[in-house]
Amino acid sequence: MRPADRHRQLDAALLAWRHLWHPQPFRQVRPAWCEERPALTAALLALDDAETADLNDDVPAALRWLGDYLPDIDALQPLIDIPAAPHAMPAVAGERWAWEIPGRKRAQIEAFAGAVEPAGEGIIDWCGGKGHLGRLLGLAMQQPVHTLEIDAALCADGENLAQRIGLNHRFLERDALAVADWPRPGQHAVALHACGNLHRRLIEHGASAGVARFDVAPCCYYRGVEASYQPLSPRGQLQLTRDDTRLAVTETVTASPRLTRQRDQAIAWKLAFTGWRDQLSDVPYKTFKPVPAPWLRGSFADFLAHMAARECLPPPDPRHLDAIEAAGWQRQREVARLAIPRHAFRRALELWLVLDLAAYLGEHGYEPSLTTFCNRQLTPRNLLLSARRM
Ligand SMILES: C[S@@+](CC[C@H](N)C(=O)[O-])C[C@H]1O[C@@H](n2cnc3c(N)ncnc32)[C@H](O)[C@@H]1O
Repeated sequence: MRPADRHRQLDAALLAWRHLWHPQPFRQVRPAWCEERPALTAALLALDDAETADLNDDVPAALRWLGDYLPDIDALQPLIDIPAAPHAMPAVAGERWAWEIPGRKRAQIEAFAGAVEPAGEGIIDWCGGKGHLGRLLGLAMQQPVHTLEIDAALCADGENLAQRIGLNHRFLERDALAVADWPRPGQHAVALHACGNLHRRLIEHGASAGVARFDVAPCCYYRGVEASYQPLSPRGQLQLTRDDTRLAVTETVTASPRLTRQRDQAIAWKLAFTGWRDQLSDVPYKTFKPVPAPWLRGSFADFLAHMAARECLPPPDPRHLDAIEAAGWQRQREVARLAIPRHAFRRALELWLVLDLAAYLGEHGYEPSLTTFCNRQLTPRNLLLSARRM
């Protein structure tokens, strides 16, 4: 499917289903769709813990399950099926290029490099950290490399690593959001997990500079988004809030049981706090600042006391603590179940965001294509937007 067709169809599908994915069960005890779809709501609330975890984690399985209650939702699956990039392992002799790279990061870099075709004169590795990706591509493609990176220590480490193997690899210690003279015309721009406005800046400035080819694996789409996402290509009708762009990246690689328990407890305690706060006043849901991690590692009593003090509320009555915490856990169980429909749309939202970048490149003289460069166990941020200048 052409990126432009996929973009148009996803735009329409996401608009049609917005009532299902936009409301946050964390903030609303019962989103409006619960009343409109009582059978779906009852079936969700009846799921056991294992089914709930599976359906939250597996988008295709969630869409199949939801299909019993929302028959039209079947149409979404073909729109989010993205072909894997053809792979050719970069031919690089020896292991010296990979000095000091942790295993998972190395596997991501190799998968990315294997999915990229050579193009242009010289490589620019955008927000490249220590330049591991640039180093591998420079060796494999026999091209000079520039890595642009804001962190001086990472640049210094990267320079040392490049010197060890005698590669023509320079580091530009610059702010990607402010730099005006990079990328250069005719370069091959690569970016592995440059967050939000960092990858958007590369696309916009690279296209106007006349980059020969882009290979970009985006992440953290919400970074640099204020209240709402400003599309690069205003073709679609969908409008996303900052929270919607966060939903696109809530998918994580399955966590260990210990981390899962910690995450569930954090949600349960926060819900216990909001439930208790709501009893004190009937002000509608208010967001609260991030909770410092140490508050979530102690006792529930200490957590609630900290929150009450910070939010200028009276101290909680110790006699009610058990009931307040139990109510939080009850809400956590419900939120996990009622979030399944919302989570079933996160890949669609992510694709819509990447297709917005693709559309912009299409409008600026490039031929965009979209593939996955690795499986999602290696990284769920596995979309690769490639675009060749026509
Ligand atoms: C998620 S890391 C990815 C690093 C590398 N591409 C990789 O995959 O190993 C994002 C990088 O962007 C850098 N960064 C953040 N803000 C930046 C900015 N304004 N300008 C340049 N680099 C920036 C960070 O220091 C970090 O090294």
